[in-house]
Amino acid sequence: MRIGVCWYPEQWPRDRWRLDAAMMRDAGLELVRVGEFAWSRLEPTDGVHDWDWLDEVVAILAGEGLGVILGTPSATPPIWMVDRSPEICSVGPDGRRRPPGSRRFTCPTSPLYRGEARRIARALVERYGADPAVVAWQIDNEPGNHDSARCWCDACEAAFQQWLSRRFGDDIDALNRAWGTVFWSQEYPSFASVRLPRPTMTAHSPHLLLAHRRFSSAQMTSFIAEQAELLRTGAPHAEITVNHFIGDLHVDQSELARVPGIDPIGAHDNYPHGYQGPHDVAFAHDHARGLAGPDGRGWIMEQQPGPVNWTPTNPPVPPGQVRLWSWQAALHGIDTLLYFRWRAGTTGQEQYHTGLLRHDATPDRGLHEATAFTAEIRAAAPVLGERPPARAAVLFSMEDAWALEIDPHLQGLTHRELVVAAHAALRSLGIDADVVRPTDDLTRYHLVLAPALHLHHPDREAALRAALDAGATVVLGPRSLVKTWENAWVTVPEPAGLAPLLGARLREGLTQPSPGLRILAGRGERPSAPAGRWADVYELLDGEHLEGPEGPARIVARYQGGWLDGAPAAVARGRLAACGAASAEAWIAVVLALLGQGVRTVLGSPLNPGEADPGHIERFVRHGHTYLLDHTALTLTRSGSGAPR
Ligand code: GAL
Repeated sequence: MRIGVCWYPEQWPRDRWRLDAAMMRDAGLELVRVGEFAWSRLEPTDGVHDWDWLDEVVAILAGEGLGVILGTPSATPPIWMVDRSPEICSVGPDGRRRPPGSRRFTCPTSPLYRGEARRIARALVERYGADPAVVAWQIDNEPGNHDSARCWCDACEAAFQQWLSRRFGDDIDALNRAWGTVFWSQEYPSFASVRLPRPTMTAHSPHLLLAHRRFSSAQMTSFIAEQAELLRTGAPHAEITVNHFIGDLHVDQSELARVPGIDPIGAHDNYPHGYQGPHDVAFAHDHARGLAGPDGRGWIMEQQPGPVNWTPTNPPVPPGQVRLWSWQAALHGIDTLLYFRWRAGTTGQEQYHTGLLRHDATPDRGLHEATAFTAEIRAAAPVLGERPPARAAVLFSMEDAWALEIDPHLQGLTHRELVVAAHAALRSLGIDADVVRPTDDLTRYHLVLAPALHLHHPDREAALRAALDAGATVVLGPRSLVKTWENAWVTVPEPAGLAPLLGARLREGLTQPSPGLRILAGRGERPSAPAGRWADVYELLDGEHLEGPEGPARIVARYQGGWLDGAPAAVARGRLAACGAASAEAWIAVVLALLGQGVRTVLGSPLNPGEADPGHIERFVRHGHTYLLDHTALTLTRSGSGAPR
C-alpha cells in the first residue's frame, strides 16, 4: 500500500516547505497531492502563469523521494476570471446565477469555462507531464460535489434538448411514448419545448427527472473527459485519476472512472464521520474499488485524520481510530491512501478540520497514527499479500439510485441503503465482495446479490443470465426490475424479464412493514430476522408461465407477523432467487438458507456453519491468516492459520 498526504504549500510560507517535506519523508510517506485548488497562484492574471513556486514544490518533494500527484484546478477558478466572464458561473433552479465565494460554482456546459479548464490543464501538463516526479494526476476535485453537475442556465437547457433529441433519434413522439407524457397533458410538440425541471407546483415527471440526472452527470463527465484526453497525451506514463465523490447522486462515478484516458482506479474520499457506521465505510471501499469495473483498483485520495468540520456535531476521533480506519481500507484492497491534509489550516473555510499537523505545525495524533500505520502495513505486506479475488458481488448502479431518489415511495429510503444491507450481510459472514455495475462481467462470481435493481434493461438481464449460465447463484433484492429504462412501470410480471425463470412474481411491495414484521428462512435453523424497511411479497407461478425445464419455484423464507404471516419473503428456482426483505439480517438468513455449506466451501466464509459476526466486527481471510477488526474496541487481531475452508 502506498501512503501519502494532501498538501497545500501555496497556503504556507515558502521557507517552511523543506521542513514539511522532510517531515513527510520521516513519517514514511511516499506520495503528496498538490495543486488542485491553486489556480489563482498558477495563473495570477489572465494568461500569465507563475510556475516558479510549483517548480520549487515539485523539486523539494522529489528531493525527499516523494512522488507528486498533481491536481488540475478546475474546481476553483480565479476571481479575475469570474470578473471578466461572469457567465462561467452556474445558475440555480431559482434562475439566479451562483456567485463565487466557495468552489465548484461553474457551469459544466459553458463552452467558455470548458475552454479555460482545458487551457490550464494543457499548460500544466506541458510543464510537468514529462517530469518523473509527477507520478499521477488528479483531474478537478470531486466532480459533482455541492450539486455542481446540475445547472439551470440557458446553455444547459439547450444542451439538454439536444441530448434528448439524440437519445430519441430526433423523434419527439418516441419520447412522448416512453415517458407517457399524456399524463397531466404534458405531451411535447418538439424537443425545444422540453424544459429543465425548474420548481413547479408539485412533483415533476419522474421520466424528466431521471433524464435530467443522466444529462447532468453526462455533462460533468464530458467536462472531465476533455481534460483526461489532454493529460493522457501529455503525461503518457503517469497515472490519471479523478477524486470521486461517491457519497451522493450528482454524477455516475462509474462512468467517470471509465472515461478514456483515466486509469481504472476508483479514488474516493474516506471520511467515516460522513457515513452510517463501519459497514457503510466498508461498502464505500468496495464500491470505490469497483467503480472502474471488477478489475479496478481502489484508492483513498483523502483519509480523515481526526475530527472534520462539516458534520452537524463533528465528534472527536478516539486514539487508535485513524489506524483502524487505515487498516480497514488496506484489508478492503485499497492500494493507495492519502491523509487529508498535512497541516490544519489557519485561514479559510476548514479551520476546524484536523490535519496530520496542528495549526502550529506540531504533530497531531493523526501524524503519530499515520506514521505507525505506515510502518505496520509495510511490515505486514509479505503476510498480507494481495487481496484475493472476491467470489461474491453486490450490484450498485447510479441509474437505480436516481430512480429511487425520484420515487422512493418511503421517504428517505435509498438504493444505497438497500445495497449496503446486502453488502453488510456478506461482510457479517466474513465474505469479501466486489461492488460492481449490473452490466459488468458477472460470470466470474459464485454469488451475485442485486438489491433494488430497479430499472430493467436488456443488457442487465443478459448479464444476470450470463452469470447464471456460468454457475453463479443470483439473488434479486427488493424493488428489483419493476421499471423500464425510462422510469415507467413495466407491463409484464415483475421482476421484468426474469419472473418466468424465477417461477414467481411480485405480488406486492410494501413500505415500512409493521415494525414487528420478520422473516423466517429455511427450516427455521436460525431465529427469525427483522424484515427491514421494505417487504416485497411473492406469489408462485404455475407450469404454463415457467421458463425452462425445472419444476416450480420453492419458498426459501416466509414473513412472520400481522396479515403477511406465512407469505413468501424469498423464493428460488434453480440458481435464481429473490429476497423481498430489506435488512442485513434478512439477507444473512436468506444467503445461509440458499447456500448452506457453500457459504464456507464456495464463498470462503471463515465462520462456523450458520454463524454471523455482529455489525461492529469485520473478518477477512488473507493468505492463511484471519484478520479481525473490532470497530468498537478499535482493535485488530490476526490469528495464525485461519485458512479458508
Ligand atoms: C473533501 C474535499 C477537500 C476538503 C475535505 C474536507 O470533500 O475534497 O477539499 O474540503 O472534503 O473534509
